Amino acid sequence: MKVITVKNYHEISIKAAQLVADQITNKKNSVLGLATGQTPIGMYQELINMFKRGEIDFSDVITFNLDEYYGLSPAHPQSYHYFMWDTFFQYINIKKENIHLLNGVTENIDGECQHYEYLIQKNGGIDLQILGIGDNGHLGFNEPAIGLHSKTHLVNLSEETIRANSQYFNNIQEVPKQALTMGIGTIIKAQKIILLASGRKKSHVIERTINGPVSTEVPATVLQLHNNVTVLIDEEAATKI
Ligand code: GLP
Repeated sequence: MKVITVKNYHEISIKAAQLVADQITNKKNSVLGLATGQTPIGMYQELINMFKRGEIDFSDVITFNLDEYYGLSPAHPQSYHYFMWDTFFQYINIKKENIHLLNGVTENIDGECQHYEYLIQKNGGIDLQILGIGDNGHLGFNEPAIGLHSKTHLVNLSEETIRANSQYFNNIQEVPKQALTMGIGTIIKAQKIILLASGRKKSHVIERTINGPVSTEVPATVLQLHNNVTVLIDEEAATKI
């Protein structure tokens, strides 16, 4: 894994946006895997700035989001669907039909997951996958002890994740207990992967991700098995490596 340590969150955002822009410059119709959470917000803002300055064109870009809460409709303010439109998509010239998000209120879970995998394949696979990381090492919503080859599927969220994500809901009871997520097997099929992490809070899990034994107990350690991963972190997240 290539580890890039920059000064602070702002520099992570600038560098990550530059790497995404390079990808799109090299291949106009790049397929991007996108993440939610606090960490990539600065990168999305910087990509919007680049778009406004005419430095980047999203008209042929195709996106697949990593995950979605099960039970939240796209209109729910805490759904990842809503987050992506609110934070990013509405400000750029991406075509609506090129955006793919899992349907959190599907009545056919297996069909939804299989169709998502089919669409990723049909579009030639993911060229560049952006990832954040959960405090317990989860990627997307792949919680500890997940299958190494898992595809897009429904997961039960861990107590830790429900607690961590409750800050965005009125109370912990409102946090969905399940989610749809690309599997670890889906994620590691991407050509290139960029993992973003910022702050001292992530330093322990970043240390395990980089130096620890590969184990599905810390799902992010499976990235050690991939040949094109960039871990982009700030000085605080790097304090334990
Ligand atoms: C959520 C998402 C993950 C994300 C993680 C960390 O659980 N499903 O994709 O990486 O939170 O979020 P943050 O960037 O806010 O720390």
